Amino acid sequence: RARILLDCDPGIDDAMALALVLGTPSAELVGVTTVAGNVPLSRTTANALRLTEFFGSPETPVVAGSALPLTRPSVFAEHVHGSDGLGGAPVPEHTRSLTPGFGPDFIIEQLAAAPGEITLIAIGPMTNVALAVRKEPRIVEWAREFVIMGGSYTRGNITPAAEFNFFADPEAAAVVFGAGWSPVLIGLDLTLQARIDRDVLDRWRAYGPLSDNLLIPSIANYFDNGLGEQHLGPAVHDACAVAYCLRPDLFRTRRARTNIETAGAYTSGMSVVDFGVAAKDDPDATTGRTANSLVATELDTDAFWDVMSDAFAQVTAT
Ligand code: BDR
Ligand code: CA
Repeated sequence: RARILLDCDPGIDDAMALALVLGTPSAELVGVTTVAGNVPLSRTTANALRLTEFFGSPETPVVAGSALPLTRPSVFAEHVHGSDGLGGAPVPEHTRSLTPGFGPDFIIEQLAAAPGEITLIAIGPMTNVALAVRKEPRIVEWAREFVIMGGSYTRGNITPAAEFNFFADPEAAAVVFGAGWSPVLIGLDLTLQARIDRDVLDRWRAYGPLSDNLLIPSIANYFDNGLGEQHLGPAVHDACAVAYCLRPDLFRTRRARTNIETAGAYTSGMSVVDFGVAAKDDPDATTGRTANSLVATELDTDAFWDVMSDAFAQVTAT
């Protein structure tokens, strides 16, 4: 049974990632922490409350985290997710309340209480995780696994070099990759293999209120907002990170050294991924560089969409 702690900034694809967890009977969501990212913290938090309630899980703890990046001014992605963060989808407002506390502290407490059991999945800027790991470095040992949606080893989406989650808080991403664990990196190279095409869209009409109040209207917005290469359909980036946790067999990965650019004038937030470490049997000896990440390169896309459909069919949205 996968026990998952989800750090997120909902976000249309964050919402889909959350539905994937909550629609998977073999997964247990131990809590949600929110971070400023796609939209400001007040909005990502309200959306996490709305979504957990809408997906029939109003008892799942939702704890608000950092409202600001570690050192920089905020960057949002309202051009992609709309000013409400869910593309104007008519997900009901929440009646449940926020769980008291601070996101980074909640991450520490949960991982400390069950060492080796909980998988941490971060699908927004890395601010909360960086604050947590700075305050309690032992979380790198306590997390069963750490899966990140962020970065890319080819090119970015918010700038030519950088992917949004790392661009929004490069210093936090740098802290996370320097912390001594080996996160799984689900970057754009992987997530752009999971695009919603016509066939997927047609399948997604069948889930009642989940389809009518979230999936279809939010995707309409995704298409309308003129994302690059939209003729191929929008990608569901964040859901890929959850899918890795549930079905790692659908992914091909390679060990690599990932460093985050924090100083570049044009490359700030870029993930510089060095596969050289993984080239030989004893790679670290040949290059002198050590791997600090497991980078996803290939997805079994058909099987991925089946996993998504199975989960969506189980979500009792109300
Ligand atoms: C990432 O940025 C956000 O806009 C998405 O929710 C996803 O986490 C993709 O670059
Ligand atoms: Ca996100």
